[in-house]
Amino acid sequence: MKFPAIAVAATALFAAPAFADGHATGDAAEGENVFKKCRSCHMIVADDGTEIQKGGRTGPNLYGIYQRVPGSVEDYRYGDSLASISEEGLMPDGWVEEEFVVYVADPKAWLETKVEGNARSKMSYKLRDEQEAKDIWAYLVSVGPAPES
Ligand code: HEC
Repeated sequence: MKFPAIAVAATALFAAPAFADGHATGDAAEGENVFKKCRSCHMIVADDGTEIQKGGRTGPNLYGIYQRVPGSVEDYRYGDSLASISEEGLMPDGWVEEEFVVYVADPKAWLETKVEGNARSKMSYKLRDEQEAKDIWAYLVSVGPAPES
């Protein structure tokens, strides 16, 4: 069973190394702070409706992004390129830190490495600071469901 990690969020700061083992190299506490940059377009809302971060609806909910297949939030209308990654099963193992960091630095450039033809991205924002991207990743992992592996 996947259980929400919200209950342990308070202790996650102290448990970060074990929690993040193999999944995240950044600092979750820093990442929570840097997430400000994403909030205008992205919320983090758990499957049970718990609002971890209120945010805009321009982009998809980022809850449980770790190992989630890119372009796979059901009620979100992705651009064709990102949607095709899930439709064509191009990344069955889903989002991992290395892909995430490259994606947020330049979503269109990342899509060009994944899909045929002209890639288009609905996300125009670029987070070039690699450490900030890793910190946000660590934060997203820490507030997501407990990893299955
Ligand atoms: C101006 C609005 C905007 C901002 C700011 C923004 N994003 Fe996005 N994001 C989007 C949109 C729109 C999409 C959908 C892209 C598509 O369909 O091509 C997206 C998609 C994503 C995805 C892919 C999700 C999935 O379901 O596969 C990730 C990961 C992501 N954004 C992370 C971030 C992070 C981290 C930040 C902050 C550093 C951020 N975004 C800031 C608009 C934004």
